[in-house]
Amino acid sequence: MIELKNVTKRFGNKIAVDSISFKVEKGDIIGFLGPNAAGKTTTMRIITGFFPPTEGSVKIAGYDIAKDPLLTKEKIGYMPENVPLYKELTVYSYLKFIAEIKGVPKSKIESRIEKAMEEVGITKVKNTIIGKLSKGFRQRVGLAQAIINDPEILILDEPTVGLDPVQIIEIRNLIKNMKGERTIILSTHILPEVSMTCDKVIIINEGKIITQEEVKNLTKTSQKGAKIYLEVEAPKTQFINEINKIKGVSETQEVNKIEEGIYSYSLSIEDSKNIKDIVNKIVKNDWGLLELRKQQVTLEDVFLKLVTKEEL
Ligand SMILES: Nc1ncnc2c1ncn2[C@@H]1O[C@H](COP(=O)(O)OP(=O)(O)OP(=O)(O)O)[C@@H](O)[C@H]1O
Ligand SMILES: [Mg+2]
Repeated sequence: MIELKNVTKRFGNKIAVDSISFKVEKGDIIGFLGPNAAGKTTTMRIITGFFPPTEGSVKIAGYDIAKDPLLTKEKIGYMPENVPLYKELTVYSYLKFIAEIKGVPKSKIESRIEKAMEEVGITKVKNTIIGKLSKGFRQRVGLAQAIINDPEILILDEPTVGLDPVQIIEIRNLIKNMKGERTIILSTHILPEVSMTCDKVIIINEGKIITQEEVKNLTKTSQKGAKIYLEVEAPKTQFINEINKIKGVSETQEVNKIEEGIYSYSLSIEDSKNIKDIVNKIVKNDWGLLELRKQQVTLEDVFLKLVTKEEL
């Protein structure tokens, strides 16, 4: 549905996007994840035809955006980082204006506006001036303008930025409900957003793609070694000394005191056989093992590891 091949964008000497390639299949929801200045917005602008790449090609449904700009633009709805809303217009008249610009046939304008407003839950405020709406509702108007021409593809640049937790969940649900109907690329630097809404994630840093993977695999496959949480009744220093003697085991976090003589530890292990070694040490020393569990590797762990090249 969307295919980028060796896309590079330079601004003067600065390389904002550095030879990236990826494919998005029809109906996928892709999370485009990266820290500030990673190149997310630049990539999205290239896909939407806002500006051309310096090098490389982009195909939308098999058509090259450089050769068929109008055709490909018709298939895309775009919600930019800051949606330029006309604050003095009512929701309805703004959407009508956008529908006309986007070339929605006159006979269909009315029904498209009604449908878009219904889809994002703003029918109630159709006659309200945009300037009087809360940020969350303005964001919904931004989403409505992106889907006004019923595009197959939606490009959403940080759609939940600046919203309160309740509105964030609502916007995420709106996006999730479009699953299957539309192909969506959503940029964010909020990790839970990706696990909650997306099937796949593309992580970009300093203009380069560092990984593209199904979300569920990302936290699974990158788990070389694991983290272990332990609560042990034992003298702290002695316990740490003994544990450090085991090959492949190291502490990852500060030790916390649970109560007198009982401490919790976070350890990282290289091999699952290390769990046995730890338990053996505890038994041998006649210490009390109160809790032992494997800690789930989160998307955040993976992201930080990839972006900062830190060890998990
Ligand atoms: N029009 C421009 N002229 C010059 N440099 C630019 C321009 N647009 C972006 N850049 C630079 O390109 C790099 C990538 O920017 P981009 O906006 O794509 O990042 P981003 O991943 O969207 O970041 P953020 O999370 O902050 O929105 C940055 O270093 C930015 O300063
Ligand atoms: Mg951006």
